[in-house]
Amino acid sequence: MIVVMKAHSNNEEIQHVLKFLQNHGLSGHLSQGVERTVIGVLGQTSNAGLPSGIGGITPGLEDSLEGLPGVDNVLRVSKPYKLASREFHPENTTVEVPAACVDGGSVTIGGKDVVMMAGPCTVETETQLMTAAEAVRKAGAVILRGGAFKPSTSPYGFRGLGEKGLQLLAKARDEFGMAVITEVMTPSDVAMVCEYADILQIGTRNMQNYMLLDEIGRTNKPVVLKRGMSATIEEWLLAAEYVLSQGNKNVILCERGIRTFEKATRNTMDISAIPVAKTLSHLPIISDPSQGTGHRHLVGPMTLASIAAGTDALLIEVHPNPDEALKDGAQSLTIQQFNELMPQAQAVAHAIGRDFI
Ligand code: E4P
Ligand code: PEP
Repeated sequence: MIVVMKAHSNNEEIQHVLKFLQNHGLSGHLSQGVERTVIGVLGQTSNAGLPSGIGGITPGLEDSLEGLPGVDNVLRVSKPYKLASREFHPENTTVEVPAACVDGGSVTIGGKDVVMMAGPCTVETETQLMTAAEAVRKAGAVILRGGAFKPSTSPYGFRGLGEKGLQLLAKARDEFGMAVITEVMTPSDVAMVCEYADILQIGTRNMQNYMLLDEIGRTNKPVVLKRGMSATIEEWLLAAEYVLSQGNKNVILCERGIRTFEKATRNTMDISAIPVAKTLSHLPIISDPSQGTGHRHLVGPMTLASIAAGTDALLIEVHPNPDEALKDGAQSLTIQQFNELMPQAQAVAHAIGRDFI
C-alpha cells in the first residue's frame, strides 16, 4: 500500500501519517520527490494471509489513511515486490561508490552519466591484472572488474585465486584509484569480500541463493545483482527485494543475457529488459555484454545498444591476451578493442544526452 501526500503537505502531516502507521503495527518508507512525498507502507496490511499490499487490505485502514490531513490518496501496490517497485519509490535511485580517480572521490550509478566497469573476467596474475587495470583506466573506465571467486560449470575449471585475488584487486585499486567490483558466492565469504571490494557482485547462478541475498542485505555495500540466466524480470526483482528488505538500499540490477534455444550466442542479450526494469523499478540497471553474448565481436554492438536502451553502466571483460585467458577468453576484448570501443560508446551516450563519468 502507498500513501500519496498532497503536493504541499507539510512535515507535521507526514509525521502524523508515520505515527498512525506505527500505531497499527506498520511502518512507512518515505520517498521524497521534487513535487510530492510518497509513503510506502511496510508490514502486514492484509487480513487474508496474502503478502502486504496485495488485496485483502484490513477493513477501514485505507479509509482512515485517506482521511488523514495532507493525504491525497492511498494506492495498492499491484506487484509482488514492493521496495524494488517504482510504484513504491517513484524517483530513480542512485548508488554512490567511492572511487579516488573521479572528481569528488565517488561515482554515481543511476545518475545522468554512464559508468564504465571493465577488467579481466578473472584475476589470474598480478601482471595480468595490473596491465588490464592500467589500460582500462586510461581508456576511461572508473570501476575495475575481476573475479577472485569464480563460478565454474565444470569442477575441473579454474575457480579463481580466492583471497589472493581480492588482495591483488585491492592493490590495483590503490594504484589506479578505481573502485573494485567482484563476485561473492557464499554467505560465509561476504564479510571478507566486503573488506576488499567496493561493489559486491551476485552472479547469475546465485540470483536465487536466498541465504546469500539475505547476508548481503545485512551489509551496506553496493551490490550488482545479475539476472538469473533463466529468470523472469519479476523473479529478478523479487531477488532484489530480498536484499532491500534486509536494509541494504544499494542494489544495482544487471542484465547479462538469458538462456534461449539460440546457439549462435552464449546467451540471448535481453536489451529490452533494460527499459522494462527501468519502468517497473527505481533501481539502477547495468548491462554485461560480455556474458550476454559470449563472443568478443558482439560485445561492441551490444554495448552501444545497451547505452541507447538506457543502461546506467557497462560491465565489460578486457584481457591483455584473451587467447591465453584462464576463463571466458572468447568474450574478452583485447586492450586495443576496448580502446576503440570507448569513443563509440561516448558518441552514443552523447546522442541521448548523457556522458561517461
Ligand atoms: C564467469 O566468468 C563464469 O565464471 C564463467 O562464465 C563460467 O563459465 P563456465 O560455465 O564455462 O564454467
Ligand atoms: C562474471 O561476470 O564474472 C560472471 C560470473 O558473470 P555471470 O554471473 O553473469 O555468469
